[in-house]
Amino acid sequence: MLAKVLILVASLVGLYVIQKYVEFSRMVKSLQAHSWFTTVFSQRTIIGNILPRIPGVSRGRHATWLEKHRPYAIAGWDATLNITLLPRTSAVLSLVDAAAIKEVTTARARFPKPVEQYKVLSFFGDNIVASEGEDWKRYRKIAAPAFSDRNNKLIWDETIRIILDLFDNVWGSQESIVIDHALTITLPIALFVLGAAAFGRRISWKDDEGIPPNHQMSFKDAIHEVSMNCFIKVIFPDWAMGLTEHTRRVRLAFEELDSHMLEMISKRRNAEKKEERHDLLSSLLDASADDPTFTDRDLTGNIFIFLVAGHETTAHTLCFTFALLALYPDQQEILYQHIKSVLADGRLPTYEEMPLFTQSMAVFNETLRMFPPVNGIPKYSAEDTSLTVGNATGDKLVLPVPQGTAITINTVGLHYNPRYWKDPEEFRPSRFLEPDWPRDAFLPFSAGPRACIGRKFFETEGIAILTLLISRYKIEVKEEPQFASETFEERKARVLASKPGLTITPIQVPLVFKRR
Ligand code: HEM
Repeated sequence: MLAKVLILVASLVGLYVIQKYVEFSRMVKSLQAHSWFTTVFSQRTIIGNILPRIPGVSRGRHATWLEKHRPYAIAGWDATLNITLLPRTSAVLSLVDAAAIKEVTTARARFPKPVEQYKVLSFFGDNIVASEGEDWKRYRKIAAPAFSDRNNKLIWDETIRIILDLFDNVWGSQESIVIDHALTITLPIALFVLGAAAFGRRISWKDDEGIPPNHQMSFKDAIHEVSMNCFIKVIFPDWAMGLTEHTRRVRLAFEELDSHMLEMISKRRNAEKKEERHDLLSSLLDASADDPTFTDRDLTGNIFIFLVAGHETTAHTLCFTFALLALYPDQQEILYQHIKSVLADGRLPTYEEMPLFTQSMAVFNETLRMFPPVNGIPKYSAEDTSLTVGNATGDKLVLPVPQGTAITINTVGLHYNPRYWKDPEEFRPSRFLEPDWPRDAFLPFSAGPRACIGRKFFETEGIAILTLLISRYKIEVKEEPQFASETFEERKARVLASKPGLTITPIQVPLVFKRR
């Protein structure tokens, strides 16, 4: 019996492999019709980047991140064509050429988003990230006022309040605070700021410790579980979500997050005294009151997407920033001296002073260049068109791009492209203080009409956090006996190690915050 089952399984696998081989050969043949195919076709074809790394078969989910600009240097062009066999057979044109990318991000109608790839982000309803066309325009218009300058002071003030609450009520009088993984503080910071400044939901560090009544999971844990495990919910059917302890917890997190969001909506709707607020939740609720086609699912879909888009991206960037400053004490000292020169008397930084903290901004930009949280921004060509790409020797190649071609903007490849960035592996914030730094080759927030709506939100909270923190604490890497003999390069590789997730995720960043 067992032998029969094994033969059946082996036959099915065999048939599947043959089917994939046929699909692959057909695709290569159809692509060979294009004169440019052999020029940019990557010899390092991805045989599915959803598999773990298997040498010679799969480069693994993290490959694009680890290889950075290397595949393009090998191809000799700032574009490659990859054929992916899993989950389905498809060809993807991958770009690291700043001018070609600018064309793709600017011409929204010619290069729209493949919304089906964002299905993973739509379980709570349609939303601004996972939509295109008229739906997207409507969501963007509703959200835009909440991201105007009027709200930035609120973001700044709430951020300062949250960081002072951390200093006064959690870190207290301790001279040095040891944190085994910096994400354990940057995730709550990002969530508290987003909760307070976008949703009027103030959480203090002390309140955060328990699970509220009528819930089985805190808001913080629910959003964290959901963003870490989105893919599980998409891959497994509902019945399978009850099979293991892990999937049951993920299912609970989804239910809990839904109920936290609905509670937030009904609390604000039923608030007795309607405060004059201009935050994101007000904008979304006003839209749902004025427009009957804006349903409660549109509300939860968008609340969820703003939580996801603004939470992990920010927390991971803050975490890498702290890690880099700890690894490079000279850079941290430059930043500290600059902050001191603005805040000479040791007072709190104010929103009005934000443009003066140029060194803090340069540190963030350099972190975002080296660790762009979102890598691989997908687009496709809606018509037969062409793109011009270049290479290190200054040649140009015009690529005919047939309608339907899948395109990926490889942010990390662009950010390590030596054509734009000298010594791209070096952490050098000062490159962003030069007047002519290559703006088109810096894409952590994407660009064009579909660029990140929360960029200024992040910059405001980020500068407030970094400036206040560095003015009072020095950051160091935690010393641990088992790593006593490691070299600087080994330490750097350990502290900055990352794994793929919804956004690039730092694995373990052990730090010490020492009072100045
Ligand atoms: C370091 C921080 C951040 C980074 C690196 C970042 C990056 C990005 C990127 C690359 C995109 C384009 C994604 C795509 O085309 O698929 C995007 C879109 C978006 N981001 Fe951010 N983001 C950050 C912070 C935020 C924050 C704080 C919020 C909200 C509070 C936010 C809300 C959004 C939204 C709603 C979109 C979709 C915009 C649209 O399609 O019209 N992001 N972000």
